[in-house]
Amino acid sequence: MTAAAEHPARAFCRALNVRYPLVQGGMTFGSDARLVAAVSEAGALGTLGTFHYRTHDKVKEQVDLIRQATARPFSVNVPFFEQSFALVERLAREDGVKVFTLGGWFSEPMQRLKEELGLTVLVSVNAPTVARMVAERPYDALIVQGNESGGANSHYGTEQLFELVRPIARPGAPVLWAGGQWDGGDLLRALVRGAAGVQLGTRFFFAEESPLHPSIKAQVLDSNLKRPLTTALTPVNDTLSMRFITNKAYKTALKEGEVEKIFQDKERVFALSQAFFEENARPLLIYAGTGVYKLRAIQPCRAIVDEVVREYNDLAARRLPEL
Ligand SMILES: Cc1cc2nc3c(=O)[nH]c(=O)nc-3n(C[C@H](O)[C@H](O)[C@H](O)COP(=O)(O)O)c2cc1C
Repeated sequence: MTAAAEHPARAFCRALNVRYPLVQGGMTFGSDARLVAAVSEAGALGTLGTFHYRTHDKVKEQVDLIRQATARPFSVNVPFFEQSFALVERLAREDGVKVFTLGGWFSEPMQRLKEELGLTVLVSVNAPTVARMVAERPYDALIVQGNESGGANSHYGTEQLFELVRPIARPGAPVLWAGGQWDGGDLLRALVRGAAGVQLGTRFFFAEESPLHPSIKAQVLDSNLKRPLTTALTPVNDTLSMRFITNKAYKTALKEGEVEKIFQDKERVFALSQAFFEENARPLLIYAGTGVYKLRAIQPCRAIVDEVVREYNDLAARRLPEL
């Protein structure tokens, strides 16, 4: 890279007005206002998940809470559903939300709304075909979500997806990695390979400020400290696969066909989420990315962000032998 060429991480930080090229991914029920505000206050980009809140009013409540807690930028994640554009439009027009992470879509009306209101739009993609579908749209960044992730559905691994998507991404547009990213070493690898940053989900899912009940966080941490946790990408229906911790409850649920049954019924998916908020509820399935084996402590978001940055800086300062 020549001295004049700017690293995409810098372009990303400037475009989003964040200190670090680090994003907390939207996690339906797992990223509420408290978590988002804590991440944004720490210099990364917090992202509110919306699926769990069901209505505009409930999402707006969270947006108001974020604003009360921080003046830093944050994003709102809106996955692709029938009413997605209507929700974005209300949040943008009525509530002044400026940054959106669109889960696999960027329609023509959305482009007009972005241009009219000066919105910042990140698009997360789980396949090259999705990147191609949005190729002509003026997105500000792409996030490739690979199947190491705790909540994204993809046939591709993160680095593989990056290699496939980069040639078809809009020239100059920052592309971030999501899926299996955890620490400063992961950030360094992403930036060396030409990505603009990383998005972390699972690490923040188990952060101190996340809405998960502390007893659930303690349970996962204790298990991991005893024996490193493993995860499995699990088909839950014909089109969707999710990654879960392979504990005893998971193995039983899988054997009894319970996993597929849960995901056939939206209300049962919501009920599964609800179990994460209750003391010692022991959710049947625990969403987690491959990086969960690195969980060593339940940390506040600021400590997570500072640690990732410190590790990155330490590693980036190393001189490798010339071969
Ligand atoms: C519990 C959970 C729920 C998630 N929900 C969503 C979601 O609603 N929309 C979305 O685009 N991504 C969702 N994700 C994916 C995250 O935004 C992020 O891209 C991913 O977790 C990154 O991989 P990692 O978990 O290995 O860090 C979710 C992830 C988790 C762990």
